[in-house]
Amino acid sequence: MSPHSGKTRLAGVIGWPVAHSLSPRIHGFWLNELGIDGAYVPFPVEPPAIEDAVKGLVALGIAGANVTVPHKEAVIPIMDELDQTARRLGAVNTIVIDHGGRLIGRNSDGYGFIENLKANAPDWSTRTGPAVVLGGGGAARAIVGALLDAGTPEIRLVNRTRARAEAIAADFGDPRVAVGDWDRLGSALGDAGLLVNTTSLGMTGQPPLEIDLAPLPADAVVNDIVYVPLETALLKSARDRGNVAVDGLGMLLHQARLGFMSWFGGEPVVSDALRHFVLGG
Ligand code: ATR
Repeated sequence: MSPHSGKTRLAGVIGWPVAHSLSPRIHGFWLNELGIDGAYVPFPVEPPAIEDAVKGLVALGIAGANVTVPHKEAVIPIMDELDQTARRLGAVNTIVIDHGGRLIGRNSDGYGFIENLKANAPDWSTRTGPAVVLGGGGAARAIVGALLDAGTPEIRLVNRTRARAEAIAADFGDPRVAVGDWDRLGSALGDAGLLVNTTSLGMTGQPPLEIDLAPLPADAVVNDIVYVPLETALLKSARDRGNVAVDGLGMLLHQARLGFMSWFGGEPVVSDALRHFVLGG
């Protein structure tokens, strides 16, 4: 790492806990690769301190921060401005502080999802068929929004707790989003062009995602946003039957680009070298 000067640009990630975050490794890699005089560090912030912490970023002249669990909703009232995506999702994952010290809240999850899909499943298009999205949390909301923006003609949102999926569909108020039955998942897969798991099932320490991919067309793309483990059982069975399988690490790497470009400038690239570095522990 090169020594910092008096002009070092600073950013970081605000979370509680935050020690597990891969973001410092991602941004540190790019800062080094691009030779930028900057630093990106973890900011462990307990929930009651969130407002002081965010205002402290401005006071210290920090360029901005990523925001992770449990603060993504809590920072909203502290922002001076929300971009359209953050407003629509009710969640901020990227704060940019402008030259006037104004806090701008953004959300790059949907951008990261679509960019990762384009990079790793270049043959996928919204014309391939309906998208089936599993889940009803913040990640499902971001991904449904991104798929709508990309022009997906039909999205089937399927969650164990149906009411959460219905709430997302109602918030978007777009007839292209239909809610399906968790117990009849197979029937949603028949003509699908994309299957996305946004639930925590299949993550290390969580129950497995038990799903029979037999009805899924051979040209459908399967994307798991879980990345611990990197190859989930869902991705393995997709790959074994010939579907293109896209892992969840890429979404994290791609969403990081928006913040990096705002805080530090430059054109950070999601490369194999970055993936290896980030996975290097
Ligand atoms: P995030 O905001 O990160 O997307 P979340 O709000 O905690 O996370 O959502 C977790 C998702 O995993 C939800 O869709 C949840 O389903 P419920 O809405 O029914 O809780 C899903 N999930 C977690 N454990 C599950 C399980 N054992 N079976 C089915 N779905 C599960």
